[in-house]
Order: sequence, then C-alpha cells, then structure tokens
Amino acid sequence: MSEREMYEKMKARLAHVVPDVELRYKAKLADEILRLKRERNAVILAHNYMEPALYYSVPDFTGDSLELSRKAAQTDRDVIVFCGVKFMAETAKILNPGKTVLLPSEKGGCSLAQAITADDVRALKKRFPGIPVVTYVNTYADVKAETDVCCTSSNAAKVVPSLKTDRVIFLPDEYLARNVANELRWPIVFPSRGENPPATGPWMIGWHGRCEVHERFIPADVENARRQFPDVVVLAHPECSPEVVAASDFSGSTMAMVRYVQESKAKRYVLLTECSMGDNIAAENPGKEMVRICSIRCPHMNEITLEDTLNALKLNRYVIDVPEDIRARALKAVERMIEIG
Ligand code: 13P
Ligand code: SF4
Repeated sequence: MSEREMYEKMKARLAHVVPDVELRYKAKLADEILRLKRERNAVILAHNYMEPALYYSVPDFTGDSLELSRKAAQTDRDVIVFCGVKFMAETAKILNPGKTVLLPSEKGGCSLAQAITADDVRALKKRFPGIPVVTYVNTYADVKAETDVCCTSSNAAKVVPSLKTDRVIFLPDEYLARNVANELRWPIVFPSRGENPPATGPWMIGWHGRCEVHERFIPADVENARRQFPDVVVLAHPECSPEVVAASDFSGSTMAMVRYVQESKAKRYVLLTECSMGDNIAAENPGKEMVRICSIRCPHMNEITLEDTLNALKLNRYVIDVPEDIRARALKAVERMIEIG
C-alpha cells in the first residue's frame, strides 16, 4: 500500500473524526511503519483504546485484552509490537519467550497493575491457605506467577465458576470483583480494609485496586444522559462501580461493547469507558450517535502514538523482558485463562 492509498483508506474511515491535515501527516507515519513492519517480520497488536488514526491504520489485529492475548499466542512473526499498556505486552512475552516484544512507550502503565505486588498476594495466600487465586490480567508478571488462573473483563464470570469452588481470592480490581460477586450472588469482603469472610457459605476476597478511568463514572452520569436523551443505550465497562453497572443497559469488555453497537439497532449510545473507543466506534458506525458525556482518556494508553510505534520498530524499543522463573509460573495462569475463553 502506498502512502497515498493509506491516506485514502484512513480518510474513508476517519474524515468526520480526524482533521484532514492530521490525517495526511499520520498516513505518512503509518506508511513508514508498515514498511518497517514487513522488514522486521513484525505483527502489530492494538488495544481498542488506541487513538483512531493508529487504530484504523497499522494494526494487524485490534481487540480487548483476551482477544489480543489469543493473537499473541498464535503469531508466528519474529517481533510483536504491542500498542497497549505494559501488562498486555508482558502477557505477550509470557506466551512468546523466544520473540521480541516491543511496547512503544515506557510510560504505558496501569493503575490496577500498580495496585498490588507479589508480596501482597503471598500474604493473602498465607492468610487464606488453599483458596484459589484469580487475578485480573491487568497485573504484572510477578503477580500472575502467584496466581492459579488469570481472567479478563470478558471471561471473569466464567473463570470463577470453572474453579468448582465457592471461595476465591479475586485480585486486584475492587469493582470488577464486586460485579462478579454480584453476578454469582456471593458476599465479598476486603481484608485489606479489616473485613473478614463469613464463617459459612460462599465468599470472595477482594482487593482495593481501582481503574483510575472507570472509577470516575457515577450513576448521575447515567441519569443525566437518560434525561437528555431518553432513547440512549448505556454501555458500561465492568471496571465501573456496581452502581454504575446497575444503572446501565449493558456491561461487557471493550470488545463486547464494540460488538453490541455493531449489532444493535439503537440510534444513540453512551459509552462509560475510555473515550478514544467512542471515536473508534463512531468512525465505524456513521449512522449511530455516540453521546459524548465523557472526556476521560486513559493517561497510559494515551502514551502510545504512531510516532512511538515507528520508533519502536526503528530503534527496537522498549523491549519487554520477563525473568524465566516468573514467566514459567505466570504462563500456567495465562494459558488456563485462554483455554477457558
Ligand atoms: P478489556 O479487556 O475489556 O479491553 O479491558 C482492558 C482495560 O484495561 C480496560 O480498562
Ligand atoms: Fe489500566 Fe484503567 Fe488504563 Fe485500562 S483504562 S489500562 S484499567 S488505567
């Protein structure tokens, strides 16, 4: 594809979302990235939160955490460029120890991954011996290594029952854990806040991590949207509070939200998630309106740009490494998550 063809492709999709002058500049960058991608035999995986010009130009695959983990597990390319955040690139490395995995920006962190350490998990396991540990994939490799099984927002409610037990430790996202516990009708307690599990019946142990983006949505956002647009369909990511999820019409992973809008006949939607995704969905569904009540970008996902992606391939940076003893233990939890699907 020539630079001109790339510009035309991006324009067809993004003319009503991105200014023309920006499209021309970004098409040039995208063209150079595709040339280097071929030269280095690389695959580019991009999360649904990438900005529209990146999302609709260079990736081989886009998706949510679970889908991108699957693509990472299947690739036969030499280099994986992960346009997402560090825990996602680490998961790709856990699955592909022999390949080079590059994260375009060193600053692509995550407030959830940062909320818990491997020592915290070891302390919980000591306090609650024999109770299986489920960790959200939004954690670093050393935390995954202490875990029985990982989950993502798209399969959490399937992973917990797959353990065939009625007591689990579910880390580190307080709201995802509360939403899963509500679905299962299990009580949830937070030992890090001095709470103890009940003596009988099922229970879940949670942790106090929060997504700095999704914790900012409140039920009043849903009420305001419905007051102004009575026909609006409200979609909330399960990292939002249970109150926000209860006030919404649908809750699911980023990919589940993309599919919901594709398949639904409704005209108007509010997405309670990172707002670049609203731009990406708007670009794909010109006949459907995304009501813009949100201006919250994930500061970590926002670090990943086309410029950084080009430099990642040009300068071979930033290389993701996971020590082998940690990788081997984390792999079991990640593979189990992928198997459950
Ligand atoms: P998804 O797996 O739903 O894409 O979520 C990842 C994430 O970080 C959401 O904030
Ligand atoms: Fe982490 Fe939240 Fe950003 Fe997702 S949106 S990467 S959970 S900080």
